[in-house]
Amino acid sequence: MKLALLGCGTVGSEVVRQLHDQSRELAARVGERIELAGVAVRRLDRDRGDLPVDPGLFTTNAHELVTRDDIDIVVEVVGGTDPAREWILAALRAGKSVVTANKVLMATDGAALHRAATRNGAQLYYEAAVAGAIPLLRPLRESLHGDVITSVMGIVNGTTNYVLSRMTETGAGFAEALAEAGELGYAEADPTADIEGFDAASKAAILASLAFHTQVSVDDVYREGITDVTAGDVASAAEIGCVVKPLCIATRDGDKVSARVHAAMIPKSHPLAGVNGAYNAVFVEAQLAGRLMFYGAGAGGAPTASAILGDLVTVARMRRTGRDGGNESGSGPAEVLPMGETQTRYHLSLDVTDEPGVLAQVATVFARNDVSMRTVRQSGRGNEAILVAVTHIARDAQLARTVRELEDLPSVRRVDSVMRVEGES
Ligand code: NDP
Ligand code: HSE
Repeated sequence: MKLALLGCGTVGSEVVRQLHDQSRELAARVGERIELAGVAVRRLDRDRGDLPVDPGLFTTNAHELVTRDDIDIVVEVVGGTDPAREWILAALRAGKSVVTANKVLMATDGAALHRAATRNGAQLYYEAAVAGAIPLLRPLRESLHGDVITSVMGIVNGTTNYVLSRMTETGAGFAEALAEAGELGYAEADPTADIEGFDAASKAAILASLAFHTQVSVDDVYREGITDVTAGDVASAAEIGCVVKPLCIATRDGDKVSARVHAAMIPKSHPLAGVNGAYNAVFVEAQLAGRLMFYGAGAGGAPTASAILGDLVTVARMRRTGRDGGNESGSGPAEVLPMGETQTRYHLSLDVTDEPGVLAQVATVFARNDVSMRTVRQSGRGNEAILVAVTHIARDAQLARTVRELEDLPSVRRVDSVMRVEGES
């Protein structure tokens, strides 16, 4: 079985090492030896240390490598949409099976890639694209495909989970916690994709598509980063028995689905509340299975290589035995709810003047927008006060209108923070 590897960076070099170190084990599991037949990289002259690979296998011509007649399987660990898309499509069209860790590409072009795989009798697997080592996509795609999944809620970005965990543990502000994440190598030199939620949005699109057997693109995912989360938000969460977590939430209600990523408060008793540091976890609810939790390392060379090698063994076995794993049908609900239609609870902190009638004015705004308050708490501060309200379930659009009207009240000096509260209390 001949393998073409595209990319030999953090993940690719670990795949090379394991193909070498575990070659006998892998051959036993597949029933045939897997031979690394070519490695496409950007820089032929890059120092790759003592990687156990014949230097003659390196090439910069990925297209030529993936379309070579002798290649059976392509593993893509370059990342980004282009030129990875062209290489993967060329490989699938030539009937080669593909294993990829490319969340960005799967979240934007997953449907087209699945179609190309189906048309050409090839397999497309991408377990490593979401939550690194955690076996998650295949349980959604295979183990649970006889059930109806109603929601997927998870922490799928290690960098932001590390930052918010440190803010919770030490009381640090966002910038301080992010700097620490950078020093320890958790955050990348340019952490934009993580802290602005782009990385999690790609993963949310993939999870929603697989869980609900439909096509949710990254453009359908509502996205907020964590850059506005303050030490005050973290302290407010603690006051109501919650912690702030970077969440990815996908839900299905009949034929409607929604997908969103943002920071939110969740009760300390929720299973995701104890997932700290750079760890990932995903909480799945299904009609028959009930509640399931998947937990583990979401990134890193070795954990990600574990997911790649698992997919590799699966597609290699299929190829050897002529079996077809079946690609995604995309037959599920198709309507993606706009964010304004999604429903949850909210925590609001208002800086108000402390005088008679203020509470009544604030309550009127909530009532006018049909948002029911669950708790209200005021702490005085001279002739000013902080009013903290937690709502019952409300639609996002109703809440947004409520906030706009609150901002217009003369007695509200400032809406300090608005944060969603997820999970059952
Ligand atoms: P790296 O940046 O470490 O490696 C990228 C590799 O791709 C390098 O070997 C680079 O070549 C090669 N490459 C880049 N551009 C080209 C090009 N135009 N032509 C040929 N080769 C090219 O990335 P990672 O290993 O960290 O990530 C790879 C994939 O895995 C991404 O899709 C990422 O999202 C995903 N992933 C990564 C995780 C992680 O923890 N790192 C976790 C989960 C998923 P050269 O070596 O010459 O520079
Ligand atoms: N930057 C990502 C994270 C890597 O922090 O989780 C895994 O996709």
